[in-house]
Amino acid sequence: MSFAPGEFTVRIEPRGWTFVTSGAIPLLEAARHSAINLPSSCRNGTCRTCMCRLLSGQIRYQIEWPGLSSDEKREGYILPCIAYPQSDLVIEDPRASALPASD
Ligand code: FES
Repeated sequence: MSFAPGEFTVRIEPRGWTFVTSGAIPLLEAARHSAINLPSSCRNGTCRTCMCRLLSGQIRYQIEWPGLSSDEKREGYILPCIAYPQSDLVIEDPRASALPASD
């Protein structure tokens, strides 16, 4: 499956950190490339450790049934480890932290 490339700005509330991503990699990995750590464990959409809320924007999943209930999806919860940005996004994850600079 392929996803339309683009250039999307992602903002992480409540800290207001932003980064730009092409939409070609999942949100969790894109954040990591920008030295922002979002909590994760399985990274394949089953453990729900990374679950956070999407406040605005569109994402897509590469797997058909990410581990979220329909109520959670309705309430805006997403799994950033498997969510590909499809537009500018605002997500809310108070657990986001800055990674130490790698060099
Ligand atoms: S890290 Fe397990 S569902 Fe995202």
